Amino acid sequence: MKPSTSEVRQMFLNFFHKKGHKIISSSSLIPKNDPTILFTNAGMNQFKDIFLGKDQRNYSRATSSQRCVRAGGKHNDLEKVGFTPKHHTFFEMLGNFSFGDYFKHEAIAFSWELLTSPHWFNLPKEKLWVTVYEGDNETFNIWKKDIGVLPNQIIRIGDKKNALYDSDNFWSMGETGPCGPSSEIFFDHGPKIVGNPPGTSGEDGDRYVEIWNIVFMQFNRQLNGTMLPLPQSCVDTGMGLERITAILQNVHSNYKIDIFTKLIQSVAETIGTTDLNNKSLHVIADHIRSCAFLIADGVIPSNDNQAYVLRRLIRRAVHHGKMLGSKETFFFKLVDPLIAIMNINDNNFIKKKKHIEKILQTEEEQYAKNIERGISLLNTEITQLSDRTLGGDIVFRLYDTFGLPLEWTEGICKQHNIEIDKIGFEYAMTQQRQQARNSSRFYAKNQNAIYTTQSSIFKGYEYLQLQTVITAININGNTVETIRPGKNGIIFLESTPCYAESGGQIGDSGNLYDKKNSHFSVHDTQKYSQAIGHSGQMITGELHIGDTVIIQVNEQKRKRICLNHSSTHLLQATLQQVLGKHVEQKGSLVSDSSLRFDFSHYKPMTLEEIHTVEEIINSKIRLNSRIETHVMKLEDAKSYGAISLFNETYSDYVRVLKISDFSIELCGGTHAKRTGDIGLFHLRSESSVAAGVRRIEAVTGDKALLILQKENEQLLNITNLLKANRYNIYEKIHSFINHTHNLEEKIKTLYQQKALETKNLLANNFMTIKGVQILVYTLNNLEPKLLHIIVKKLKNQLKSGIIVLANIIDEKVFIIASVTSDLTGRIQACSIIEILAKKIDGKGGGHPNIAQAMGFNITTLPKALIDIKEWLSENL
Ligand code: SER
Repeated sequence: MKPSTSEVRQMFLNFFHKKGHKIISSSSLIPKNDPTILFTNAGMNQFKDIFLGKDQRNYSRATSSQRCVRAGGKHNDLEKVGFTPKHHTFFEMLGNFSFGDYFKHEAIAFSWELLTSPHWFNLPKEKLWVTVYEGDNETFNIWKKDIGVLPNQIIRIGDKKNALYDSDNFWSMGETGPCGPSSEIFFDHGPKIVGNPPGTSGEDGDRYVEIWNIVFMQFNRQLNGTMLPLPQSCVDTGMGLERITAILQNVHSNYKIDIFTKLIQSVAETIGTTDLNNKSLHVIADHIRSCAFLIADGVIPSNDNQAYVLRRLIRRAVHHGKMLGSKETFFFKLVDPLIAIMNINDNNFIKKKKHIEKILQTEEEQYAKNIERGISLLNTEITQLSDRTLGGDIVFRLYDTFGLPLEWTEGICKQHNIEIDKIGFEYAMTQQRQQARNSSRFYAKNQNAIYTTQSSIFKGYEYLQLQTVITAININGNTVETIRPGKNGIIFLESTPCYAESGGQIGDSGNLYDKKNSHFSVHDTQKYSQAIGHSGQMITGELHIGDTVIIQVNEQKRKRICLNHSSTHLLQATLQQVLGKHVEQKGSLVSDSSLRFDFSHYKPMTLEEIHTVEEIINSKIRLNSRIETHVMKLEDAKSYGAISLFNETYSDYVRVLKISDFSIELCGGTHAKRTGDIGLFHLRSESSVAAGVRRIEAVTGDKALLILQKENEQLLNITNLLKANRYNIYEKIHSFINHTHNLEEKIKTLYQQKALETKNLLANNFMTIKGVQILVYTLNNLEPKLLHIIVKKLKNQLKSGIIVLANIIDEKVFIIASVTSDLTGRIQACSIIEILAKKIDGKGGGHPNIAQAMGFNITTLPKALIDIKEWLSENL
């Protein structure tokens, strides 16, 4: 009997449970508080802090089946998905973990027993191959002597190209964090499948498939490459559920296991195709898993980070659907079959089913609209083309802004006999990747690389100033004893009134003094595991670990933050009242200058709704109700009716914030005492962040007044400038716009006139070389657009001839060469341009009929044009 995927998962967990491991549920796909990875990429992620010695549990052995996404960041399989039998963007990783408990010997023995014992997976021993990190003799000997694997089936794998620790047998979670040498187990699918053993050429084939990675966690990799030893040696293993299931179900591809066979069948039925072997079905079946689970874990398609990957995955799936002939929105229809086939009973997922479908549907519809807009833009560009090549920047814009895949643009262009500038496209793509890298937050904000085993007590609910003791000081990632003037660093305190950034509320700033008047200015406060760090600069004197200090919060700033934070609670309750109960908080940013609140809602708010929201909130402010906080058990908070946010994991006791009976929410932030403190709430903007998510930005208190005054001042300035008043300003601007429009029309007519005049002037400057009419001429400061119009007009008049027109503008030279079709057998425009481009230090290209160049050397232009005349007379 072949076990089902669910049975394989359960067998694995049971085996390790029997061996004293605690079964732990999968964590979210979105790493919590970990900027070093984009998605949860391995079973060990949720245990990272235990490996690092920053967290402790009441168990030292654990086992789990972890949802993983490998579609971005360090471990990224996206491009391979669908085209190999073993890669996925979403998969489940079975794992067992030891936190300073057992090490190499037991870890290997466990894996062997589970794989080969007739009571468990019962795999033939001779089909299993193993790899070890090159110098790891201990592991080699365990496999050889204790387990009895034949030495020729134990392969040592070293570092790649002499890069230390860059090896298939050295596993790291990200650029920083826990890592160590590993030993991998491979299954030989037999000679019918192409591929060679690991470590040999041809290892990329699919015959020998890695099924289990056993990592001996020993180091914490730092950003500069240093390997710090972990406080204790640990074990982290990972086995892809889909791969082991394929072996146990006796199939050679993950896409042939029970769940994928059914999912693929469902995709095919939904789209209406019968070609079950089409690889596009694999891609869609894979992507519906990652997309649905990512949305369930709180991601919404948008343009950066995880949200961008999700958007790409959805678009990719839709694109493959189109290739299979789908005519209508189909992707969201796969959520139902997915739940049934994977037997998903996770509460969070089931609760969000409608939301997942809605997001997928909206994104797919929006993508279809984008594509339509892209295609219409492409058609306009095609009609306006003066040569037969579509510029790389346009192709890139179609791809990036409208999501038009390169092959579509290429296909449409081909129908019109137009080529696309692939080099230009690649260039624009590289530029964008570079920019994305520069703005990536994943390696830049590396606060987790700094850690301390200290913990701090937050006392900022009651105090704005208190006396405490310095427990640690960190400068540039290193722990130091003393901090001296001018130095930037992070100071950790036993207790602090400073709020560390969390729940959308920014960190406090303030000042730290000692009795000798040493002064450290705190610019920001952040959490570092259990400790609260105050980052800033030492201004005068010096401070040492163990010093008693006074820490003071910047009171003015904190007050403003409190007003904004309490206002977000009023805002959420008001939005639910005005727009409906579907409104859910999706994110927020509360600072001293403003507040930002993202929430689920499927269409823009009307002006009337915006005004109603403002009116309700301001009326609540005028009621001047008390804002109360109560600390209570989580269970009690739920029955009290408190709204909780996202998928946050709360501790047993929670803070509940209550504003009369209007708003009751769990919240750890700091707040105003009464609603009246807020003074004034002014909604500044309402916009879209992603499909189904809107964003409100607002200001409160003295900032709101200041902004209204500034806007009033601006309005006064505008009315003065336009000699209007606030009652007729709208009409006045309207008439200005009309006036501008009329002027633009006049300019267009003038352009045409100028083009005609220039053309007439040029028509007298043709010379004849070997019976061919030739014009070589330089113009100055001509609008680049005009150059094309003039060439077209000349060509129409000429019927047969060669035109080379240069235009000097803004210290650049533009050249167009045009050759009528009857002459392209003798001379081509692109050859003319090739010669000229070089001479003016520029670049160019085009077709036999028309080509153009742009260059920077104005001084060489006259000689270049003389030379080209000579060249023409020699080559005609
Ligand atoms: N962390 C290792 C991997 O992902 C083993 O679990 O392969």
